[in-house]
Amino acid sequence: MQPFEPASSTDGMNAADDVHSAPNAALLGEWLPVCNSADVPAGESRGFVVAGERLVVWRNASEADVPAAQPDMFTDAHVWRDLCPHRGAQLSLGSVTGGVLACPYHGWRYDADGQCIHIPANPSIRPTKRACARTYRVEEKYGVVWTCLGEPSRPLDFFPEYAEYDMPGARRINLAAQTVRSSAPRVVENFLDMAHFPFVHTGILGDASHAEVQDCEVIETAGGLEARQCRFWQPAGLPGQEGVDIEYVYRVKRPLVASLSKVAQHGAGALHLLLVASPVSETETRAWLVSVFEDESTHSDQALYDFNMQILMQDTPVVESQWPKRLPLDPQAELHQVCDRLSVGYRKYLREWGWGYGTELNGS
Ligand code: FES
Ligand SMILES: [Fe+2]
Repeated sequence: MQPFEPASSTDGMNAADDVHSAPNAALLGEWLPVCNSADVPAGESRGFVVAGERLVVWRNASEADVPAAQPDMFTDAHVWRDLCPHRGAQLSLGSVTGGVLACPYHGWRYDADGQCIHIPANPSIRPTKRACARTYRVEEKYGVVWTCLGEPSRPLDFFPEYAEYDMPGARRINLAAQTVRSSAPRVVENFLDMAHFPFVHTGILGDASHAEVQDCEVIETAGGLEARQCRFWQPAGLPGQEGVDIEYVYRVKRPLVASLSKVAQHGAGALHLLLVASPVSETETRAWLVSVFEDESTHSDQALYDFNMQILMQDTPVVESQWPKRLPLDPQAELHQVCDRLSVGYRKYLREWGWGYGTELNGS
């Protein structure tokens, strides 16, 4: 019997498209957060799942790429499908040397464009163009690695109001991502909700003796929503602060991105939060906060980190308990009160987008 001989060493490769189903079409134009920049140090690779797509994020670490004076400098991140086109192994388990990512299984080596440049078991064969990893667009902003699984519908710029983000002395703190077993729209809506403060964040963002939510104004902005005149009495609404009325401005930037700014009435530094919701699937989300605190000196970075993490951890079990996990967009679904003006606006905004990912678009 003749041994099986492939026509060439690269024929018969599995196309990566056969292995993964296509990402949800609604997401293809969006910049989606993958991880914090600090999660992938230079010379390392890490695996993440975004919208059902397994992704590898990796960075160069060759001596040429990292100046000796800045050994900790993050080099450009790459975001690829986490799948080797040879036999489907996860590239995130591989190793990075000299600007090349090597697969953990048979050691195929991929350059920064995703092209295989070396097959150790057949070193004399020049890999074909098909021996190429699937690459995605990548940007880093706000200390976050973002990718777009299709063609971006607009630039990545969610914080145009915040010159403070780059202001000297502003303190920028990114939480570690937390898994929330619910849809990203449920997580965003929770971020926009004030009426839960006295019950979920008792003694910090609210108190049962001050549970009433004053009506606010919700206006449409370019590509989003803004809620003004949101004022709430908070016992300790900024780290280290005593009970005071705090004014919020909420903004919905994109279907899965929202921000808030909060300023105490008596002059403490403003706190700006960007909610970064990365959908793992329609009903599981990795969420974290990018915070900018204008006050240079009042509290340690650790105290600010712990404050925001405590809030996020308090929200998680309640959001995970909500049913259905997909956000109902039918106006007749669930019960809306005046205090829900912003979340009603958010649902309408998603409905007008025709946003089906993580929602029950038709009330079904
Ligand atoms: S699976 Fe064989 S080199 Fe990657
Ligand atoms: Fe909350």
